[in-house]
This record gives sequence, structure tokens and C-alpha cells, in this order.
Amino acid sequence: MCAMWVQPTGGALGADVYGVDLSQPVSDETFQKILDAWGEHLVLRFSGQKLDDPTLMKFSARFGELDRAPVLAADRDNKDTAATADVIDWIAVISNLKKDGKPVGGLGSYELVWHTDMSYNPLPPRASLLYALEVPPDGGNTGFLNMYAAYETLPDKLKRAVEGKTCIHDSSRNSAGELRRGFQTTHDVTKTPGAVHPLVRLHPVTQKKALFLGRRPGAYVHGLSVEESEELLNAIWAHATQERFAWYQKWRIGDLLMWDNRCVMHRRDAFDESLRRVMHRTQIVGEPVLAG
Ligand code: OGA
Ligand code: MN
Repeated sequence: MCAMWVQPTGGALGADVYGVDLSQPVSDETFQKILDAWGEHLVLRFSGQKLDDPTLMKFSARFGELDRAPVLAADRDNKDTAATADVIDWIAVISNLKKDGKPVGGLGSYELVWHTDMSYNPLPPRASLLYALEVPPDGGNTGFLNMYAAYETLPDKLKRAVEGKTCIHDSSRNSAGELRRGFQTTHDVTKTPGAVHPLVRLHPVTQKKALFLGRRPGAYVHGLSVEESEELLNAIWAHATQERFAWYQKWRIGDLLMWDNRCVMHRRDAFDESLRRVMHRTQIVGEPVLAG
């Protein structure tokens, strides 16, 4: 017997999964239903969960091999985060809190621009799972974009323009715009460091095509002049980031959100830095990016 049920948000993507306690072992049958729902809705929310790091890691690992937490901004060291030594490589602490004047996690209280997690790597993660331990009463909402819908509704001219094109995904800055450890500012986008991926991506499971944009700053479309690249990127970003493709999550403590990083982009509203927000995130190793 499986008591799980799925309630779509009614928005462009996302669904709530009810009737599953993730602190307990999840049966194969229930897990398959979760996978199916994820394929259909792209973002899943499990509310009212009570997860410690090992349990979050264990559930996450059902979706594939855990990926390492990303490198933090230049003024921080991963070893300063609030994650304990046994999980530190795998749990990304996303928080604005400070201990002894030092941030205990990444990304502060700033706005995060639309992005795909770690797409500046040759194998971007398949999924991210973000679990809310402490949330402010207001602000810090996280938006998600359905990149299948963004692709499917592209005007013909833009669809033709992106076909067969590849784009560089900037590895030097995080989604809050902070320079990462070991990187310098690049002024010429043709020299942006990071991985090169197709602008249109074939999803390996659903076999559907999605726009794969990563992040706007530092982006450059290969084979075009910088001017043409800027013009094309501005046009597809303006199209893809329309509200009609978006759904916003307002966090409650105990929410676990997982998104399909192959066909979803996300962003975060800024929040009052005097309020506490603590999230723990895992990421799942992805597969080679297939051109769509
Ligand atoms: C992330 C991220 C959004 C948030 O963890 O990858 O973008 O709401 N976080 O903190
Ligand atoms: Mn992110």
C-alpha cells in the first residue's frame, strides 16, 4: 500500500507530494511514484519533513550519486560552514547567518538571479534538493522556471537562432554575483571561464527539449560576434523569464524542494539580513548534456 498523493501547484510547474515521511525508509513503489511525479512536474515539494543531514543525503542518493557542494565565495571557506565534518563535502549550507563574524554558509541574504545550479561544470547536477531548517516570515521566496515551456513557446525566429548553438556558462561568480575563490573578473565574455553547453538540451529521461541557459552574466554564444551574442541572449532571456513560465515557493520550516536542474531554472528574492534563514542542500551528479 502506498499512501502517497500528488497535488500540482496549478502554476507553470511544481507539485506537492503528500503522505510521505522522508525520515522513514521510502519503499521502491513509493519512490517510483516520486520519480514519475518529478518527471511530470519538474519541481516537487515535500512539506512538514524532519530531516537530519545523513537522512537528507540518503534520500537524495536514491536519485543518483551525490555531487560535491560548490565552491563558496572568495571570502569564505567551506570548512567554516555549519555542516559537520562527516557531511561537509556533500551538504551545501545556504544561509545568511554568521558565527564569530564569519558566514556559516553561502549566498547571504541577497537576491539570486535566475540560474541553473553548477552548470559551469561539464556535468551539471541532475537535481538539487533544498531543505528549509529556518526561514524568515517574509522574503527569500524561490522562483522556478519551466524551461520546456520556454523552449516550446519560442518564436520561430529565435528557435532557429538557438538551434545547434552552444553557450559558455560562467564559473567565476555565484548566483548572488559574488566572485568565487580562486577566480578573477573577466571583462571579455569570449574568455569567460566555465563549461560550454548546447542552448537547447534534450532531457535524457523525458526526451523533451528544454532551453538550457545557466546564467546570464558572462554568457557568450559561440560562433557569434559579441554583439550578436548579446542580442540573441537578451532576446531568449527576456522570453524565458516571463512570469507565465514561473512558479514561486514561499518557504516553511520542514519544506524539502527538489528541482530538475536539466529543465528548470531558479532564482531567489532578497530578504532582510537581520532575519534567520538556514537551508541545507544536496546535489545529484548529472549525465552528459545532450544537444536537443
Ligand atoms: C540554491 C539556491 C535558493 C534559495 O541553493 O541553489 O539557488 O532559495 N537557493 O536559497
Ligand atoms: Mn541555485
